[in-house]
Amino acid sequence: MENLRQTDQVIRGWLKEIRKDVLGELHDPLSVAEKSSRKDLVTNVDKANEKKIIKYIRELDPEAKILGEEGQGDRVTDMQGHVWIIDPLDGTLNFVKQRDNFAVMIALYIDGTGVLGYIMDVMRDIIYGGGPQLGVFNQSGQLPKPANISLKDGLLGVSGPMLIHDKYHLQAIDEASSGVRIIGSAGIEFIQVLTGKQNGYISHLMPWDFAAGKILAETLDLSVTKVDGTPVDMLSSNDVLVSTRDTHKDILNMIR
Ligand code: IPD
Ligand code: CA
Ligand code: CA
Ligand code: CA
Repeated sequence: MENLRQTDQVIRGWLKEIRKDVLGELHDPLSVAEKSSRKDLVTNVDKANEKKIIKYIRELDPEAKILGEEGQGDRVTDMQGHVWIIDPLDGTLNFVKQRDNFAVMIALYIDGTGVLGYIMDVMRDIIYGGGPQLGVFNQSGQLPKPANISLKDGLLGVSGPMLIHDKYHLQAIDEASSGVRIIGSAGIEFIQVLTGKQNGYISHLMPWDFAAGKILAETLDLSVTKVDGTPVDMLSSNDVLVSTRDTHKDILNMIR
């Protein structure tokens, strides 16, 4: 692999190609299949994106391990060496129902440390990417660290099912915020937090849902942990809390 800044440009190039592919499919009938339920879908576009991203990664970084949601990568059991974690289409239900509010996410971890992360908001044509050594950039420039606002002063993103089931007394936590937002794409929710439009996001997520967002959020001095405040596990599902540091403290105080 070349140096990080060159790799950053290469990955942004992949994402632009993927975006062209997705836009090309936008008005064609989708092939949609149910996975675990009627709310858990996969389309031909999810699979095609994953196949193409894996091909790109294999060309760039042949020795690496690849964890992808749709299973065309490797069976990854540890975080040693180069591990790429990809969500080829995040917010599939939004993609199917809205043709909006979906993302493509790519992350590179080396020996367990997040090095590069990318979230592309496909319909708004914005790629948020970078990492601890580069900073976080989109096409307009470098993102500043979001203001460290408290729970009561911001909008909190949540997952619909967690709110409905009142997990962690989420309804009281939401009541304590300025308001609740439910977008339905972990990637787009992470973007809201990275850009300071929401002070946090809480959801039950798989590694590909948060791998890129975690790298970008931590680079911007945001907190990313499990909802109980312990470190997230990169190889299993987690109830994830990403937020400003003060909102993190406020939420943990309400949960404990
Ligand atoms: C889903 C979305 C959704 C989140 C789910 C994820 P997918 O990703 O990010 O917002 O609540 O947990 O599975 O399956 O559309 O890539
Ligand atoms: Ca899925
Ligand atoms: Ca996802
Ligand atoms: Ca997905």
